Amino acid sequence: MRLDKFICESTELTRSMAKKLLKSGEVTCDGEVVKDPSFKVSADMLIEVDGNELTLIGERYIMMHKPVDTICSSIDEEYQSVFSLMDIEKPEVLHIAGRLDVDTTGLILITSDGKWSHKITSPKKDCGKRYLVEVADPLTEDLVELFKQGLELRGEDGLTKPAILDIVDTHQARLTISEGKYHQVKRMFAAAGNKVVNLHREAIGHIELDPELEECEWRYLTDEEVNSVK
Ligand code: URA
Repeated sequence: MRLDKFICESTELTRSMAKKLLKSGEVTCDGEVVKDPSFKVSADMLIEVDGNELTLIGERYIMMHKPVDTICSSIDEEYQSVFSLMDIEKPEVLHIAGRLDVDTTGLILITSDGKWSHKITSPKKDCGKRYLVEVADPLTEDLVELFKQGLELRGEDGLTKPAILDIVDTHQARLTISEGKYHQVKRMFAAAGNKVVNLHREAIGHIELDPELEECEWRYLTDEEVNSVK
């Protein structure tokens, strides 16, 4: 990797700021001052700025417990962005693998790794997302078969992919879907003549929302969690 790129990927600096820093002679590679931005950095090299070691930030994989009244976009609009709940370096390289609505709570996965998030969001990958759903009207057993067969959402052709509905009590159920169409869960219940009044995502694939995380809190995923996404 080029030295200027290494500096950008280990600090908050832009490429032009990295070049300026190099010109100043404050950067050393294995103890030698290097000013050339195209200098090739090897994996075992010690890169320092003013004697402080730089390390690559690398790919990041995070889970957050999203509260209500926050949005899964990077810009604060009418509601606060979930990214503004995080004090983290380089938030601009992070994105959310499967957004939630402003009024939905629960698990969101945040990453810098586009290939990894594609495995979560692509309907072809069959990655289940499990929601705890509360509805306005009593649930009926026939919904289990209806959601398994798939149903037509308003404004869309074709059926939804098979979904698993576990009824918890008269007004609560767990629904696992492997697609992420716009407002999908709310629209599925609307198509069945009911109304979602509360929606909470509990799991994505094998990754469960950590019960230790209070709303607004986040943590890095374990290697096992990261590797569970196939
Ligand atoms: N389905 C919805 O309707 N809303 C969400 O936030 C997630 C899934």
